[in-house]
Amino acid sequence: MKKALIIVSALCMTLLCACGSSGKSSKLVMATNAAFPPYESVEGGKIVGIDAEIAQLIADDLGKELVIEDMAFDSIIAAVQSGKADIAMAGMTVTEDRKQNINFSTPYTEAAQVIVVKEGSTVASPDDLEGMTIGVQIGTTGDIYAEDIAGATIERYSKYFEAIQALLQDKIDAVIVDREPGKVFVSQNEELKMIDEEFTVEEYAIGVAKENTQLLDDINASLKKLQDSGKIDEIINKYIKAE
Ligand code: ARG
Repeated sequence: MKKALIIVSALCMTLLCACGSSGKSSKLVMATNAAFPPYESVEGGKIVGIDAEIAQLIADDLGKELVIEDMAFDSIIAAVQSGKADIAMAGMTVTEDRKQNINFSTPYTEAAQVIVVKEGSTVASPDDLEGMTIGVQIGTTGDIYAEDIAGATIERYSKYFEAIQALLQDKIDAVIVDREPGKVFVSQNEELKMIDEEFTVEEYAIGVAKENTQLLDDINASLKKLQDSGKIDEIINKYIKAE
């Protein structure tokens, strides 16, 4: 009788541990800034896009329920650090600075910063931005690059849409934005064009709290499966049409 009890309690412990090690909860909370099509945007009250779909497949693979929290881009890393969210997934570029605060998964796609200007602008390359007024989303890599441009005035917006609006109203000369969102904004407005020359080449990855190494391993394993099966490419190709 006593033996049976011990076995039963040992079993319970193992079950509890099994849940515990997979991240303590059955939810996977993703922090994002859903104003960044085609990676994340709000459509009909729902957050859709490449990141949302990849996150859903990862959550499914880990047996968790995906919960997406929309917030300011520059609050995302803190949300992950404090445990308010489990992952940062927001077309987030891997940078050495960010690596001081969070860990990154293996990258799931490549990206770049580009320049968007109004048709008729004299800007033809990044060098031409010297001394100009440049719009960026606050806390992004575009914001960081803009700081290196000699004599530039930086206008920081909480959303890229606002920067694009300011550009259309001639309040600023250019917007530095990630390539694919840049393409979306240009496609929505005849008055805008994108400069061909890319500023930088970057990679997007999923951010996880430093201490959450188990979740990072689990995510990397899921990502590998999704990459090998072609699922990631499938999602990306659905949103980004090859030229
Ligand atoms: N890739 C840039 C960065 O990591 C911009 C990302 C902006 N993402 C967003 N969801 N608004 O800084």
